Amino acid sequence: MPETTPTTGPLPRIGFGTAALKGRHGAETIAEALRTGYRLIDSAFNYENEGAVGAAVRSSGVPRDEVIVTSKLPGRHHAHAAALESVEESVYRTGLDHLDLYLIHWPNPSQERYVEAWEALIEARERGLVRAIGVSNFLPEHIDRLVEATGVTPAVNQVELHPYFPQDEQRAYDASRGIVTEAWSPIGRANEMLRDPLLTRIAEGHGVSVAEVILAWHARLGVLPLPKATASERQRQNLAAIDLELTDADVEAIASLARPDGRTHDQDPAVYEEF
Ligand code: A2P
Repeated sequence: MPETTPTTGPLPRIGFGTAALKGRHGAETIAEALRTGYRLIDSAFNYENEGAVGAAVRSSGVPRDEVIVTSKLPGRHHAHAAALESVEESVYRTGLDHLDLYLIHWPNPSQERYVEAWEALIEARERGLVRAIGVSNFLPEHIDRLVEATGVTPAVNQVELHPYFPQDEQRAYDASRGIVTEAWSPIGRANEMLRDPLLTRIAEGHGVSVAEVILAWHARLGVLPLPKATASERQRQNLAAIDLELTDADVEAIASLARPDGRTHDQDPAVYEEF
């Protein structure tokens, strides 16, 4: 029976995305999100903002043990020693004594080193540097290889997921293995989806914004969305959205928006790689 990886406990239903939030302004924005009520902060080594995340956690007044601080391993550091050093470096950069969740950022299949990176994350967890480990942008075939090689199932798989790209198969795969699916770019980086006529009609029916409908849809599917928002009013609106109840008819209608080529930036993890 393969070992499964528990998370640090139940995860919140929504988290806060921090890509491009850095420096003092970034730290203040992230601290505001914590004070607003977000309890999962998503970052990455490559966002170059782990320092701002740590400063925000320390200045927010929110008890450290209530916050899930997440970071991610870059593609250029998949080799075992480099991966462990990256985790150590992430912890130093936050100024915290551990991180709560650490993900492999992209599988980068042509490098063929994501299993090695996974073994390093297992070691980082055993050493107490991180509490739980997972992956991002992994396809079922990539996760199968991790589990076959190590017996350890990722706690989380963070993927692009929004109404134009709902990832039905990936969600079903993750759910069947007890893996929490997180959504990056949950509102499509505020692209034309926020003006979609069907979503606009549903939003008007509930007296809310399109962003709220989209985030409520994520929550309804059991997906943990990670919206980024700078303005505190939007932070509040997005957080409240997970309590909005969509009707079955809303959910069925939103399913019709799926597009095979619905990714915002054509980043298919079978071929797209980041370093
Ligand atoms: P800003 O950061 O200026 O507040 P995603 O999370 O899908 O990557 O999208 C992030 C983008 O969506 C940012 O440009 C953010 O703007 C914008 N945004 C966040 N929340 C809302 C909202 N409730 N309504 C409209 N735009 C939003």
